[in-house]
Order: sequence, then structure tokens, then C-alpha cells
Amino acid sequence: FSSSRAMAGAIKHVTVIGGGLMGSGIAQVSAAAGQKVCLVETNDKLLEGANSRIHESLKRVAKKVYKEKPAEGDKFVEQTMSRISGATDASEAVKNTDLVVEAIVENMAIKQKLFATLDAVAPKHTIFASNTSSLSITEIASQCQRKDRFGGLHFFNPVPVMKLLEVVRTNDTSDDTFKKMMEWGQEVGKTCITCKDTPGFVVNRLLVPMLAEAVRMLERGDASPRDIDTAMKLGAGHPMGPIELADYVGHDTTKFILDGWHEKMPENPLFNPLDTLNKLVSEGKLGMKTGEGFYSYKKK
Ligand code: NAI
Repeated sequence: FSSSRAMAGAIKHVTVIGGGLMGSGIAQVSAAAGQKVCLVETNDKLLEGANSRIHESLKRVAKKVYKEKPAEGDKFVEQTMSRISGATDASEAVKNTDLVVEAIVENMAIKQKLFATLDAVAPKHTIFASNTSSLSITEIASQCQRKDRFGGLHFFNPVPVMKLLEVVRTNDTSDDTFKKMMEWGQEVGKTCITCKDTPGFVVNRLLVPMLAEAVRMLERGDASPRDIDTAMKLGAGHPMGPIELADYVGHDTTKFILDGWHEKMPENPLFNPLDTLNKLVSEGKLGMKTGEGFYSYKKK
């Protein structure tokens, strides 16, 4: 949580667009590392919600990190919150920023439109990055002039807990931009890896087909959900089995990613649609977040 470390890099002010699950986490870790953060949402109510989520999450961090020194913990929470401001006008918010991290809805046209608008008003040096899980960074950047100052910064959920950051460079991302994104990622406390702009980057390209294969295994009746999960936990050392992980990720999300990749790469059998997933989604059984997926999470 050293702010002096954060101030060493070229990026000192970050604008996070979208204050949902991911955006609020990204704003939190940036501010905790000493960055000035502007969080952009579509209205004040959503901004307030994001702010209180960040506040609660910071209190949890402080409780752990400053266990013996609660006064210092309170100071950490207060100082971190003071570095975060909110806005509802993205064009206004980016006028003074070094980095834009976009974490809005996973929709190509909406992301392209947002970045094209910001490209016209952001300072020349500002780097644009998307936190997309499954879309092409090159395509998101295609409506912008600053293709050399554009890349991917792909965080993992929950952002304050998960250590990894995938730093994605397209064929157009300059060495300077890439270096600044890597430095920034390290400053906000993440272990950074370099990826090309390929579908799913590294983690999701391996994880999503594994989840799909586990569901195919169920469909064939090869093993039960519990046995598949136990097998991968005890036999492969995974902290969660693929079926419980699919429930955690949400079947709407996995289906959306698979369908998108299948449409682009119909020749790859790993991305073929899954009847079971389609059925769960149509029944509203999206996993943990709805109380039911492959397993039931309803309190009895
Ligand atoms: P979310 O639905 O929780 O949050 C999105 C937020 O963006 C909403 O609060 C919405 O009001 C806001 N928003 C939409 N359009 C906006 C605009 N034009 N300006 C400002 N705010 C706007 O979604 P989540 O899960 O945080 O995902 C966001 C992005 O992060 C997506 O691209 C997703 O693929 C990616 N991602 C998601 C992960 C996850 O586990 N949920 C993991 C890694 C990446």
C-alpha cells in the first residue's frame, strides 16, 4: 500500500469507466496504491452504490492488514477513499487523466462508441485500456486514432484478492504504452503477464474450454458433478472444481463467451454451444448469483 511506489510511474491519475463488480475493484486497488482515481458511472445512484461497495471492501482489507493497529487501518481506509472521485460524464472525466480503464458492459458496439467519443477529448498522452474478458482489443480500438496507446488490462474477480493482471498488447500497441501498462499493473499490486490479443487471452482461453469439457462430461453421463469437482480438486490441485467454478462464474457469462467465440471460430469444437448451459440459462438458473445452477445455493 505504499503510495511512494505508485508515484514512481508515469501514470498517476486513472479514470475507471463502469463501477460494477470489476470497475469498483479496479478503482479500489488503484486508489489503495496511491493513484488518483475518477470512477465514472451512468448515474449518481450507481456511483453511490460503487462507493459504498469500495468502502466496505477497504474496511475488510484494513481489518486483515492492520489487525493489530486499527487506527492505522482507519487512516488507510479514509486516505484511500479520499483519492477516489466520482463522475457521470466520461468525456469531462478523462480531460486530465493518464489512463482510462474501461469496465462497462461486454458489448463490442457500446465499447467502440465509448472509446471513439473519449478519443476525441482525452489528452494525447492518455492510454486507453479495456478490461474485456472475451472481446478483441484490436476491434474495440478500431474506431480510435490512438491505436498505439491502446491495450488490454484484464483483471480477475474479486479484483482486490486476485493477484493476476493480463496485460494485452495488440499489433499496434507501442513499446512505450506496453511498458507503462506493465509498470502501472505492478504498482497497483498485481503480478503481470504479457498476452497477445487472442480470444480469452491466457486464462479464459484455457478455463472456458475446461468448463465446457466438464459440462460435456456431465452430458455424456461419465461422472457426477461432485465427482468431477472432487477429481479436479484432489487430482489436479485446483482450488475449485470446474462445475462449482462454472456456477460461480455464472452460466450466462460462460454461454455468452462460448457463443461469441463459436460465431467467430465455428471450426473449433471446443467452442461448440452446450445444450445444458442453454437450458440452465433459459430457466434462469445462472449459478450462485441466482441461488441455483448445477448445485443449489438456496438456504434451507
Ligand atoms: P457489471 O455489470 O457489474 O458492471 C458494469 C457497470 O458499467 C454497470 O454498473 C453499468 O452501470 C456501467 N456502465 C455501463 N455503461 C456505462 C457507460 N457508458 N459509462 C459508465 N458506466 C457504464 O459488469 P462487470 O462484471 O464489472 O464487467 C465489466 C467488464 O469487465 C466486462 O467487459 C467484463 O467482460 C469484464 N470482466 C468481468 C469479469 C467478471 O468476473 N465479472 C472478470 C474480468 C473482466
